[in-house]
Amino acid sequence: MIVAVDGPTASGKGTIAKALAAHFALPHLDTGLLYRAVGRQVALAGGDPDCEADALAACAFPDALLRDPELRSEASGGLASRVSVHPTVRAALFERQRAFATQPGGAVLDGRDIGTVIAPEAEVKLFVTASTRARAERRFAEMRAAARDVTLEDILAQLEARDARDRDRSAAPLEVADDANVLDTTALGREEAIAAAIAVAEEVRARL
Ligand code: DC
Repeated sequence: MIVAVDGPTASGKGTIAKALAAHFALPHLDTGLLYRAVGRQVALAGGDPDCEADALAACAFPDALLRDPELRSEASGGLASRVSVHPTVRAALFERQRAFATQPGGAVLDGRDIGTVIAPEAEVKLFVTASTRARAERRFAEMRAAARDVTLEDILAQLEARDARDRDRSAAPLEVADDANVLDTTALGREEAIAAAIAVAEEVRARL
């Protein structure tokens, strides 16, 4: 069973994808991490994330970079969003994601285009979303917990810029697959959101 979990930044899709993977004992790939690694590699190489050639060269990042804690930062998220608009970058990362999705036994992948591009045949497709305000507040709480010096207004502005870039790009934009189950987590706590996602996936599995 392939489980595709897509949605905007800070929607809770990563938490939900991890929980689904644990529940069904499936391997999990956070595809945003691949784009974050490309963004970070461009920065380390002194390149320009908006230059397609620089971004494409950075797709050959060393695997060890995937373990760099700096990839979790908002700066890396912004760089990832910028490199991810280039079609050749998306193409360079396609095979790795496709191979993970189609491994025997199934997998859970989370990102922006899993249900639309990477694994359109996924049996379970969730599109996890939440209001911009709710997502900004969650991100703010995380950053405060990590003692990062940020304001809610800064985070709201960054989030809106990132959403707009991810939604309006021409290559594999963030969009809801026709057959996706939309899960709005605005009014849900962590455990409620996980339970709702598991219920959807269990229902699909029962029909397989
Ligand atoms: O999910 P995330 O915040 O780690 O993703 C970082 C950026 O990477 C996101 O703003 C857009 C890009 N991305 C993408 O284009 N396609 C994916 N499947 C995953 C992430």
